[in-house]
Amino acid sequence: MIGLSKKLLSFNSSRYRLLDENRKFAQTIPSGAVVLDAGAGDQIYRSLLQHTQYESADFEKVDKEYAQSTYVCDLKEIPVENNRFDYILFNQVMEHLPEPNLVLTELNRVLKPDGKIIYTGPLFYEEHEIPYDFFRYTQFSLRKMFSDAGFEIERLDWMEGYFGTVGYQLNRMAQYLPTNPKDLGGGLMGYLLCPMMLLLKIFSALTSIFFHKLEVKNKYTKKGYPKNYVGIFRKSTVSTGA
Ligand SMILES: C[S@@+](CC[C@H](N)C(=O)[O-])C[C@H]1O[C@@H](n2cnc3c(N)ncnc32)[C@H](O)[C@@H]1O
Repeated sequence: MIGLSKKLLSFNSSRYRLLDENRKFAQTIPSGAVVLDAGAGDQIYRSLLQHTQYESADFEKVDKEYAQSTYVCDLKEIPVENNRFDYILFNQVMEHLPEPNLVLTELNRVLKPDGKIIYTGPLFYEEHEIPYDFFRYTQFSLRKMFSDAGFEIERLDWMEGYFGTVGYQLNRMAQYLPTNPKDLGGGLMGYLLCPMMLLLKIFSALTSIFFHKLEVKNKYTKKGYPKNYVGIFRKSTVSTGA
């Protein structure tokens, strides 16, 4: 029972969308193409790329489990020749880079002309992989930064709809709202707020599951904001002088 509730509470529609976007991207990659997973971490998309020549790069500095990287390096300086890769995966990495423009220029250098890169990254997400967490990107900064680095925009969309964003926020409320009277202002007020906060946490946990499930059924984008953006960018064949 506890296992089932843990599983339900940990269901995250962003993981579903990330896998879906990366699967679709992988399906467009021809057999034998040379692919770089930039900032690959534990290489969760590697199994989608068995038909390709998969390589990975990561600086491996965060205190977590890593799969073995082909290149242990900073993404500012990837130790390969120009135009090596046909495709690049760049998932959930750019917010961790103190000098993102230098990395985009480097990714452009190692990508073949007309080669493509998939980008995913958060607009609305708590700090993570600290202390290597520097920025959040709007769609307008993404457009400017990728085009300044020599990419053309093929697609730039909300990765989740607003239901996914709400599901995430409710999940965090369920986890983080305090129930200790002292944290609720203390005194009589603190004690009175305690049961209310407890009910709110239970309600948030349950509605979070509902919103994540709803997100998977229906990506609602008319109002609100996404948790992440997804983009497909192509290396421009026209030199930007970057
Ligand atoms: C949130 S994880 C994403 C991992 C993987 N791309 C995924 O989607 O599951 C960010 C990854 O970027 C790597 N990273 C952060 N800054 C980096 C840098 N300057 N150079 C190389 N890798 C970096 C981290 O080590 C981490 O594995």
